Amino acid sequence: MHFSNFANRYQKSSGTVRLMEDLGSATSAAGPICQLGGGNPAHIPEVEAILREAMADLIADTQAFGKMIGEYDAPGGNVAFRETLAALLTDEFGWSLTHENIAITNGSQSSFGLLFNSFSGLYPDGSHKRILLPLTPEYVGYFDVGLADRPIFEGRRAEIDLLPKRQFKYRVDFEGLQLNQGHGAACVSRPTNPTGNVITDEEMAKLRAACRQEHIPLIVDGAYGLPFPGMIFTPATPLWDDNTILLLSLSKLGLPGIRTGIVVATPEVIQLIQNNNAINSLAPSRIGPTLLTPLLQRGQLQTICEDLIRPHYEQKRDHALAVIAEVMSDLPIRVHKPEGALFLWLWFEDLPVTSETLYQQLMARGVFVLPSRPFYPETERSWRHQEECIRVNYAAPDETVVKGLTEIAQVVREHFRGAAAPVTGSGGASIDP
Ligand SMILES: Cc1ncc(COP(=O)(O)O)c(C=O)c1O
Repeated sequence: MHFSNFANRYQKSSGTVRLMEDLGSATSAAGPICQLGGGNPAHIPEVEAILREAMADLIADTQAFGKMIGEYDAPGGNVAFRETLAALLTDEFGWSLTHENIAITNGSQSSFGLLFNSFSGLYPDGSHKRILLPLTPEYVGYFDVGLADRPIFEGRRAEIDLLPKRQFKYRVDFEGLQLNQGHGAACVSRPTNPTGNVITDEEMAKLRAACRQEHIPLIVDGAYGLPFPGMIFTPATPLWDDNTILLLSLSKLGLPGIRTGIVVATPEVIQLIQNNNAINSLAPSRIGPTLLTPLLQRGQLQTICEDLIRPHYEQKRDHALAVIAEVMSDLPIRVHKPEGALFLWLWFEDLPVTSETLYQQLMARGVFVLPSRPFYPETERSWRHQEECIRVNYAAPDETVVKGLTEIAQVVREHFRGAAAPVTGSGGASIDP
Protein backbone atom coordinates (compact mmCIF):
# COMPACT_ATOMS: atom_id res chain seq x y z
CA MET A 1 0.00 0.00 0.00
CA HIS A 2 1.22 3.51 -0.71
CA PHE A 3 0.55 5.99 2.03
CA SER A 4 0.69 9.76 1.84
CA ASN A 5 3.17 11.83 3.86
CA PHE A 6 0.42 12.37 6.38
CA ALA A 7 0.46 8.67 7.31
CA ASN A 8 4.12 8.95 8.43
CA ARG A 9 3.11 10.26 11.80
CA TYR A 10 0.91 7.23 12.40
CA GLN A 11 3.37 4.66 11.05
CA LYS A 12 6.01 5.11 13.71
CA SER A 13 5.87 4.54 17.42
CA SER A 14 5.89 7.43 19.87
CA GLY A 15 5.81 8.04 23.61
CA THR A 16 2.02 7.97 23.73
CA VAL A 17 1.72 4.94 21.46
CA ARG A 18 4.25 3.03 23.55
CA LEU A 19 2.48 3.99 26.76
CA MET A 20 -0.82 2.60 25.55
CA GLU A 21 0.79 -0.47 23.92
CA ASP A 22 2.49 -1.29 27.23
CA LEU A 23 -0.91 -1.14 28.89
CA GLY A 24 -2.31 -3.47 26.27
CA SER A 25 0.56 -5.99 26.38
CA ALA A 26 0.53 -5.97 30.18
CA THR A 27 -3.17 -6.83 30.12
CA SER A 28 -2.60 -9.80 27.82
CA ALA A 29 0.80 -10.99 29.18
CA ALA A 30 1.08 -14.70 29.89
CA GLY A 31 3.29 -14.52 33.01
CA PRO A 32 2.82 -12.53 36.21
CA ILE A 33 3.31 -8.82 35.66
CA CYS A 34 3.40 -5.67 37.79
CA GLN A 35 1.60 -2.93 35.95
CA LEU A 36 2.95 0.32 37.39
CA GLY A 37 3.04 2.06 34.01
CA GLY A 38 0.10 3.64 32.16
CA GLY A 39 -2.39 6.00 33.70
CA ASN A 40 -5.18 3.68 34.72
CA PRO A 41 -6.98 4.85 37.85
CA ALA A 42 -7.66 2.49 40.73
CA HIS A 43 -10.76 0.33 40.96
CA ILE A 44 -12.29 1.75 44.12
CA PRO A 45 -15.12 -0.63 45.08
CA GLU A 46 -17.25 2.03 46.82
CA VAL A 47 -16.98 4.37 43.83
CA GLU A 48 -17.73 1.61 41.35
CA ALA A 49 -20.78 0.60 43.43
CA ILE A 50 -22.19 4.15 43.17
CA LEU A 51 -21.51 4.30 39.44
CA ARG A 52 -23.08 0.88 38.91
CA GLU A 53 -26.18 1.99 40.77
CA ALA A 54 -26.38 5.19 38.70
CA MET A 55 -26.07 3.09 35.54
CA ALA A 56 -28.78 0.69 36.77
CA ASP A 57 -31.12 3.66 37.39
CA LEU A 58 -30.40 4.88 33.89
CA ILE A 59 -31.05 1.51 32.30
CA ALA A 60 -34.33 1.27 34.20
CA ASP A 61 -35.41 4.63 32.78
CA THR A 62 -36.67 3.60 29.33
CA GLN A 63 -36.76 7.10 27.91
CA ALA A 64 -33.39 8.32 29.22
CA PHE A 65 -31.68 5.06 28.24
CA GLY A 66 -33.20 5.14 24.76
CA LYS A 67 -31.97 8.68 24.22
CA MET A 68 -28.50 7.94 25.58
CA ILE A 69 -27.80 5.06 23.23
CA GLY A 70 -30.15 5.87 20.37
CA GLU A 71 -29.50 9.55 19.49
CA TYR A 72 -26.51 11.64 18.51
CA ASP A 73 -25.85 14.38 21.01
CA ALA A 74 -25.26 18.08 20.19
CA PRO A 75 -21.79 18.55 18.63
CA GLY A 76 -20.68 20.55 21.68
CA GLY A 77 -21.89 17.73 23.92
CA ASN A 78 -24.86 17.10 26.14
CA VAL A 79 -26.52 20.43 26.96
CA ALA A 80 -28.09 19.34 30.28
CA PHE A 81 -24.69 18.18 31.53
CA ARG A 82 -22.97 21.37 30.33
CA GLU A 83 -25.63 23.52 32.05
CA THR A 84 -25.34 21.57 35.28
CA LEU A 85 -21.55 21.74 35.27
CA ALA A 86 -21.54 25.45 34.41
CA ALA A 87 -23.83 26.13 37.39
CA LEU A 88 -21.69 24.01 39.69
CA LEU A 89 -18.41 25.70 38.68
CA THR A 90 -20.05 29.11 39.00
CA ASP A 91 -21.41 28.32 42.48
CA GLU A 92 -18.29 26.66 43.74
CA PHE A 93 -15.56 28.84 42.25
CA GLY A 94 -17.39 32.03 41.17
CA TRP A 95 -16.37 31.66 37.51
CA SER A 96 -19.59 32.95 35.91
CA LEU A 97 -20.05 30.30 33.21
CA THR A 98 -22.88 29.13 30.98
CA HIS A 99 -23.09 25.99 28.88
CA GLU A 100 -21.53 28.02 26.06
CA ASN A 101 -18.28 27.94 28.02
CA ILE A 102 -18.25 24.16 28.10
CA ALA A 103 -17.76 21.47 25.46
CA ILE A 104 -17.60 17.70 25.75
CA THR A 105 -15.06 15.56 23.91
CA ASN A 106 -14.36 11.85 23.64
CA GLY A 107 -11.70 12.06 26.34
CA SER A 108 -9.54 15.11 26.99
CA GLN A 109 -6.72 13.49 24.98
CA SER A 110 -8.84 14.06 21.89
CA SER A 111 -8.83 17.85 22.35
CA PHE A 112 -5.06 18.30 22.61
CA GLY A 113 -4.53 17.97 18.86
CA LEU A 114 -7.08 20.63 18.06
CA LEU A 115 -5.98 23.01 20.80
CA PHE A 116 -2.22 22.72 20.35
CA ASN A 117 -2.44 22.97 16.56
CA SER A 118 -4.81 25.94 16.86
CA PHE A 119 -2.22 27.84 18.90
CA SER A 120 0.98 26.81 17.13
CA GLY A 121 2.44 26.45 13.66
CA LEU A 122 1.86 28.92 10.86
CA TYR A 123 -0.16 32.08 11.62
CA PRO A 124 -1.87 34.35 9.05
CA ASP A 125 0.88 36.98 9.45
CA GLY A 126 3.47 34.40 8.35
CA SER A 127 4.89 33.85 11.83
CA HIS A 128 5.43 30.40 13.35
CA LYS A 129 4.48 29.90 16.95
CA ARG A 130 5.07 27.19 19.50
CA ILE A 131 3.42 25.97 22.67
CA LEU A 132 5.47 26.78 25.74
CA LEU A 133 5.63 24.19 28.51
CA PRO A 134 6.83 26.25 31.47
CA LEU A 135 7.69 23.27 33.64
CA THR A 136 9.12 20.11 32.13
CA PRO A 137 8.89 17.12 32.61
CA GLU A 138 5.32 17.34 31.33
CA TYR A 139 2.61 14.93 30.16
CA VAL A 140 3.90 12.66 27.36
CA GLY A 141 0.47 12.65 25.70
CA TYR A 142 0.99 16.20 24.39
CA PHE A 143 4.03 15.58 22.25
CA ASP A 144 2.76 13.64 19.26
CA VAL A 145 -0.09 15.82 18.10
CA GLY A 146 1.72 18.52 16.12
CA LEU A 147 0.77 18.78 12.45
CA ALA A 148 3.19 21.56 11.53
CA ASP A 149 6.39 20.79 9.66
CA ARG A 150 8.40 22.09 12.62
CA PRO A 151 8.36 21.04 16.29
CA ILE A 152 5.52 22.80 18.08
CA PHE A 153 6.64 22.43 21.72
CA GLU A 154 9.24 24.34 23.63
CA GLY A 155 9.93 23.18 27.17
CA ARG A 156 11.54 24.93 30.10
CA ARG A 157 13.70 22.98 32.47
CA ALA A 158 12.34 22.88 36.03
CA GLU A 159 14.29 24.32 38.93
CA ILE A 160 14.82 21.65 41.56
CA ASP A 161 14.26 22.32 45.26
CA LEU A 162 15.72 19.61 47.47
CA LEU A 163 13.45 18.82 50.41
CA PRO A 164 13.83 16.81 53.62
CA LYS A 165 13.09 13.08 53.69
CA ARG A 166 14.79 12.58 50.33
CA GLN A 167 12.08 14.43 48.47
CA PHE A 168 12.36 17.24 45.92
CA LYS A 169 9.98 19.60 44.15
CA TYR A 170 10.10 21.15 40.71
CA ARG A 171 9.59 24.90 40.43
CA VAL A 172 9.03 27.18 37.44
CA ASP A 173 12.15 29.12 36.52
CA PHE A 174 10.53 32.49 35.89
CA GLU A 175 13.82 34.12 34.92
CA GLY A 176 14.29 31.56 32.15
CA LEU A 177 10.61 31.51 31.14
CA GLN A 178 10.95 34.05 28.31
CA LEU A 179 7.36 33.89 27.18
CA ASN A 180 7.09 35.94 24.01
CA GLN A 181 5.33 36.43 20.68
CA GLY A 182 6.96 33.26 19.36
CA HIS A 183 4.52 31.38 21.59
CA GLY A 184 0.86 30.80 20.75
CA ALA A 185 -0.09 29.35 24.14
CA ALA A 186 1.42 27.98 27.34
CA CYS A 187 0.30 24.72 28.91
CA VAL A 188 0.65 23.05 32.31
CA SER A 189 -0.90 19.95 33.81
CA ARG A 190 -1.94 20.59 37.42
CA PRO A 191 -1.50 18.17 39.20
CA THR A 192 1.29 17.22 36.85
CA ASN A 193 1.62 13.92 35.11
CA PRO A 194 4.32 12.45 35.50
CA THR A 195 5.60 14.01 38.72
CA GLY A 196 2.61 14.43 41.06
CA ASN A 197 3.67 18.07 41.39
CA VAL A 198 1.04 20.72 42.04
CA ILE A 199 2.18 24.06 40.66
CA THR A 200 1.64 26.51 43.51
CA ASP A 201 -0.99 29.28 43.50
CA GLU A 202 1.85 31.80 43.42
CA GLU A 203 3.40 30.20 40.34
CA MET A 204 -0.01 30.04 38.67
CA ALA A 205 -0.61 33.73 39.38
CA LYS A 206 2.71 34.61 37.74
CA LEU A 207 2.05 32.35 34.75
CA ARG A 208 -1.40 33.83 34.23
CA ALA A 209 -0.02 37.35 34.40
CA ALA A 210 2.77 36.53 31.94
CA CYS A 211 0.31 34.93 29.50
CA ARG A 212 -2.11 37.82 29.74
CA GLN A 213 0.66 40.29 29.12
CA GLU A 214 1.62 38.49 25.90
CA HIS A 215 -2.06 37.96 24.93
CA ILE A 216 -1.67 34.21 24.75
CA PRO A 217 -3.92 31.67 26.45
CA LEU A 218 -2.87 29.48 29.36
CA ILE A 219 -4.03 25.89 28.90
CA VAL A 220 -4.48 24.15 32.25
CA ASP A 221 -4.88 20.39 32.13
CA GLY A 222 -6.86 19.46 35.24
CA ALA A 223 -7.29 15.75 34.46
CA TYR A 224 -6.44 14.96 38.12
CA GLY A 225 -7.60 18.22 39.63
CA LEU A 226 -10.66 20.03 40.90
CA PRO A 227 -13.61 19.80 41.00
CA PHE A 228 -13.20 16.19 39.91
CA PRO A 229 -11.53 13.78 40.46
CA GLY A 230 -9.95 15.98 43.15
CA MET A 231 -6.70 14.00 43.44
CA ILE A 232 -4.91 16.91 45.10
CA PHE A 233 -3.30 16.49 48.52
CA THR A 234 -2.06 20.02 49.05
CA PRO A 235 -3.87 23.37 49.19
CA ALA A 236 -4.37 24.67 45.63
CA THR A 237 -6.95 27.03 44.17
CA PRO A 238 -8.57 25.99 40.89
CA LEU A 239 -8.39 28.82 38.36
CA TRP A 240 -10.26 29.91 35.29
CA ASP A 241 -10.69 33.22 33.49
CA ASP A 242 -11.30 34.30 29.91
CA ASN A 243 -7.63 33.77 29.08
CA THR A 244 -7.61 30.21 30.45
CA ILE A 245 -8.55 26.98 28.71
CA LEU A 246 -9.26 24.40 31.40
CA LEU A 247 -9.37 20.73 30.49
CA LEU A 248 -11.22 18.31 32.75
CA SER A 249 -11.91 14.61 32.40
CA LEU A 250 -14.08 11.90 33.90
CA SER A 251 -11.34 9.31 33.39
CA LYS A 252 -9.42 9.49 36.62
CA LEU A 253 -12.48 9.33 38.81
CA GLY A 254 -12.86 5.81 37.50
CA LEU A 255 -14.40 6.18 34.06
CA PRO A 256 -11.59 6.00 31.45
CA GLY A 257 -13.60 3.39 29.57
CA ILE A 258 -16.39 5.79 28.66
CA ARG A 259 -14.05 8.49 27.23
CA THR A 260 -15.39 11.82 28.43
CA GLY A 261 -13.34 15.00 28.33
CA ILE A 262 -14.51 18.51 29.14
CA VAL A 263 -13.20 21.84 27.91
CA VAL A 264 -13.97 25.04 29.84
CA ALA A 265 -13.14 28.12 27.79
CA THR A 266 -14.50 31.21 26.07
CA PRO A 267 -17.32 30.59 23.55
CA GLU A 268 -14.97 31.11 20.59
CA VAL A 269 -12.73 28.27 21.76
CA ILE A 270 -15.79 26.14 22.54
CA GLN A 271 -16.97 26.73 18.97
CA LEU A 272 -13.69 25.28 17.68
CA ILE A 273 -14.14 22.17 19.81
CA GLN A 274 -17.75 21.83 18.75
CA ASN A 275 -16.89 22.07 15.05
CA ASN A 276 -14.01 19.65 15.48
CA ASN A 277 -16.37 17.16 17.14
CA ALA A 278 -18.84 17.53 14.29
CA ILE A 279 -16.18 17.13 11.61
CA ASN A 280 -14.26 14.25 13.15
CA SER A 281 -16.87 12.34 15.12
CA LEU A 282 -20.25 14.01 14.46
CA ALA A 283 -20.89 14.24 18.18
CA PRO A 284 -19.16 13.24 21.42
CA SER A 285 -20.38 10.27 23.43
CA ARG A 286 -23.41 10.97 25.59
CA ILE A 287 -22.86 8.10 28.02
CA GLY A 288 -20.58 9.94 30.47
CA PRO A 289 -22.68 13.11 30.59
CA THR A 290 -25.98 11.21 30.92
CA LEU A 291 -24.56 9.03 33.69
CA LEU A 292 -22.99 11.87 35.62
CA THR A 293 -25.66 14.60 35.38
CA PRO A 294 -27.84 13.25 38.24
CA LEU A 295 -24.75 12.77 40.44
CA LEU A 296 -23.67 16.35 39.77
CA GLN A 297 -27.18 17.66 40.42
CA ARG A 298 -27.38 15.87 43.76
CA GLY A 299 -23.91 17.10 44.76
CA GLN A 300 -22.96 13.44 45.02
CA LEU A 301 -19.97 13.61 42.71
CA GLN A 302 -18.20 16.13 44.93
CA THR A 303 -18.82 13.88 47.95
CA ILE A 304 -17.43 10.89 46.07
CA CYS A 305 -14.29 12.86 45.24
CA GLU A 306 -13.76 14.21 48.74
CA ASP A 307 -14.80 11.19 50.81
CA LEU A 308 -13.71 8.29 48.65
CA ILE A 309 -11.34 9.20 45.83
CA ARG A 310 -8.91 11.60 47.50
CA PRO A 311 -8.53 9.53 50.71
CA HIS A 312 -8.03 6.40 48.63
CA TYR A 313 -5.12 7.88 46.69
CA GLU A 314 -3.61 9.53 49.76
CA GLN A 315 -3.53 6.15 51.41
CA LYS A 316 -2.06 4.51 48.29
CA ARG A 317 0.58 7.23 48.09
CA ASP A 318 1.55 6.79 51.74
CA HIS A 319 1.76 3.05 51.29
CA ALA A 320 4.01 3.39 48.22
CA LEU A 321 6.25 5.86 50.07
CA ALA A 322 6.53 3.46 53.02
CA VAL A 323 7.51 0.62 50.69
CA ILE A 324 10.15 2.82 49.06
CA ALA A 325 11.55 3.75 52.47
CA GLU A 326 11.79 0.06 53.27
CA VAL A 327 13.18 -1.40 50.06
CA MET A 328 15.25 1.49 48.69
CA SER A 329 16.79 3.06 51.78
CA ASP A 330 20.31 2.10 50.64
CA LEU A 331 19.88 3.67 47.20
CA PRO A 332 20.57 7.26 46.09
CA ILE A 333 16.88 7.94 45.52
CA ARG A 334 14.78 11.06 45.78
CA VAL A 335 11.02 11.14 45.28
CA HIS A 336 9.22 14.15 43.86
CA LYS A 337 6.92 15.50 46.58
CA PRO A 338 3.70 13.65 45.74
CA GLU A 339 1.10 16.40 45.93
CA GLY A 340 -1.49 15.01 43.54
CA ALA A 341 -2.43 12.57 40.73
CA LEU A 342 -1.45 8.90 41.10
CA PHE A 343 2.25 8.78 40.34
CA LEU A 344 5.56 8.73 42.14
CA TRP A 345 8.43 10.24 40.21
CA LEU A 346 11.60 8.52 41.37
CA TRP A 347 14.95 10.17 40.79
CA PHE A 348 18.04 7.95 40.96
CA GLU A 349 20.79 10.52 40.94
CA ASP A 350 23.83 9.47 38.85
CA LEU A 351 22.04 6.33 37.69
CA PRO A 352 24.77 4.51 35.73
CA VAL A 353 22.37 3.68 32.85
CA THR A 354 19.64 5.71 31.23
CA SER A 355 16.14 5.34 32.59
CA GLU A 356 15.22 3.98 29.13
CA THR A 357 17.59 1.05 29.76
CA LEU A 358 16.18 0.60 33.23
CA TYR A 359 12.64 0.62 31.77
CA GLN A 360 13.58 -2.09 29.25
CA GLN A 361 15.23 -4.24 31.90
CA LEU A 362 12.27 -3.91 34.24
CA MET A 363 9.85 -4.75 31.45
CA ALA A 364 11.85 -7.94 30.76
CA ARG A 365 11.12 -8.86 34.40
CA GLY A 366 7.43 -8.09 33.97
CA VAL A 367 7.53 -4.74 35.76
CA PHE A 368 6.00 -1.88 33.76
CA VAL A 369 7.00 1.70 34.58
CA LEU A 370 7.75 4.71 32.38
CA PRO A 371 11.19 6.17 31.66
CA SER A 372 11.74 9.90 32.02
CA ARG A 373 13.00 11.13 28.62
CA PRO A 374 9.64 10.90 26.78
CA PHE A 375 8.23 13.45 29.24
CA TYR A 376 10.34 16.18 27.62
CA PRO A 377 9.84 17.65 24.15
CA GLU A 378 12.30 16.15 21.70
CA THR A 379 13.87 19.51 21.03
CA GLU A 380 14.65 20.27 24.65
CA ARG A 381 18.38 20.30 25.36
CA SER A 382 19.44 17.19 27.17
CA TRP A 383 20.48 17.31 30.81
CA ARG A 384 21.50 14.34 32.87
CA HIS A 385 18.49 14.56 35.16
CA GLN A 386 16.25 13.82 32.15
CA GLU A 387 17.60 10.28 32.05
CA GLU A 388 17.59 9.54 35.75
CA CYS A 389 13.91 9.29 36.67
CA ILE A 390 11.09 6.81 36.30
CA ARG A 391 7.35 7.19 36.78
CA VAL A 392 5.50 4.68 38.92
CA ASN A 393 1.71 4.49 39.03
CA TYR A 394 0.70 3.56 42.59
CA ALA A 395 -2.99 2.92 41.84
CA ALA A 396 -2.35 -0.81 41.41
CA PRO A 397 -3.23 -3.27 44.23
CA ASP A 398 -0.86 -2.98 47.23
CA GLU A 399 0.80 -6.35 46.63
CA THR A 400 1.59 -5.35 43.03
CA VAL A 401 3.10 -2.07 44.23
CA VAL A 402 5.25 -3.90 46.81
CA LYS A 403 6.45 -6.49 44.29
CA GLY A 404 7.11 -3.90 41.58
CA LEU A 405 9.01 -1.51 43.84
CA THR A 406 11.07 -4.37 45.26
CA GLU A 407 12.06 -5.46 41.74
CA ILE A 408 12.92 -1.88 40.80
CA ALA A 409 15.12 -1.62 43.89
CA GLN A 410 16.95 -4.82 42.95
CA VAL A 411 17.67 -3.78 39.38
CA VAL A 412 18.76 -0.28 40.37
CA ARG A 413 20.94 -1.68 43.15
CA GLU A 414 22.72 -3.95 40.68
CA HIS A 415 23.51 -0.93 38.52
CA PHE A 416 24.95 1.10 41.35
CA ARG A 417 26.98 -1.90 42.56
CA GLY A 418 28.40 -2.43 39.11
CA ALA A 419 28.96 1.27 38.52
CA ALA A 420 32.69 0.99 39.02
CA ALA A 421 32.81 -0.98 35.77
CA PRO A 422 31.57 0.78 32.62
CA VAL A 423 27.90 -0.04 32.05
CA THR A 424 26.70 -0.50 28.50
CA GLY A 425 22.98 -1.07 28.72
CA SER A 426 20.90 -1.73 25.65
CA GLY A 427 19.48 1.53 24.43
CA GLY A 428 21.82 3.40 26.79
CA ALA A 429 21.76 6.78 25.08
CA SER A 430 24.55 9.14 26.03
CA ILE A 431 23.83 11.59 28.80
CA ASP A 432 25.08 15.16 28.95
CA PRO A 433 26.99 15.80 32.17
C1 LIG B 1 -2.29 14.90 32.45
C2 LIG B 1 -3.27 14.16 31.62
N1 LIG B 1 -4.07 14.86 30.82
C3 LIG B 1 -4.98 14.25 30.03
C4 LIG B 1 -5.10 12.89 30.00
C5 LIG B 1 -6.09 12.27 29.05
O1 LIG B 1 -7.19 11.78 29.71
P1 LIG B 1 -8.50 11.30 28.97
O2 LIG B 1 -8.30 11.39 27.49
O3 LIG B 1 -8.74 9.90 29.43
O4 LIG B 1 -9.58 12.26 29.39
C6 LIG B 1 -4.29 12.10 30.82
C7 LIG B 1 -4.38 10.63 30.79
O5 LIG B 1 -3.62 9.91 31.36
C8 LIG B 1 -3.35 12.76 31.65
O6 LIG B 1 -2.54 12.07 32.45
